[in-house]
Amino acid sequence: MAIGTDYKDTLLNYFEEEVAGESYFAGLAEHFDEPGAAENLVLLARVERCAAEATRPLLARNGLTPRTDEELAIAGRGHVARHEKKTWPEYVAYMLKQFPLYMPMFENLESMAPAEDLPALKILTEHEAAAIRFAEREKVGDPDASDELHAYIKACEGQFPVLVAAE
Ligand SMILES: [Fe+2]
Repeated sequence: MAIGTDYKDTLLNYFEEEVAGESYFAGLAEHFDEPGAAENLVLLARVERCAAEATRPLLARNGLTPRTDEELAIAGRGHVARHEKKTWPEYVAYMLKQFPLYMPMFENLESMAPAEDLPALKILTEHEAAAIRFAEREKVGDPDASDELHAYIKACEGQFPVLVAAE
């Protein structure tokens, strides 16, 4: 992801990144043996999917057509190999290094958006914040770290029912 300067291009790009992210996390889940790691990655996949569904209505409103879920799933799975050799603690450390870098990008998208798009974009931004909070708690061994992901999924899926199951 990069900081975008055009609202519509950036919206489309970030939506597609979330759909791809679902398959990325779901694929990554198959590579960790540590207790709870796979479950947490499956939750992260659901977080990605719901963040995408929250913003999907904005695409039509802005005249944008994303690539198909199937194409994006292939793209997402293509990123798995980069991280599949990590241990779970290494991957958590990676999340804590990488995910905060995305926050200004989502905030930048909000700053370019028309007011009517902001409620959905705040749900998009919040998904990254929830993932960061999860990683912070996971890093220190909090046994309830996944509460952050469950809470996001509950709130998001309550508003945006997810019709496409994670692979
Ligand atoms: Fe994401």
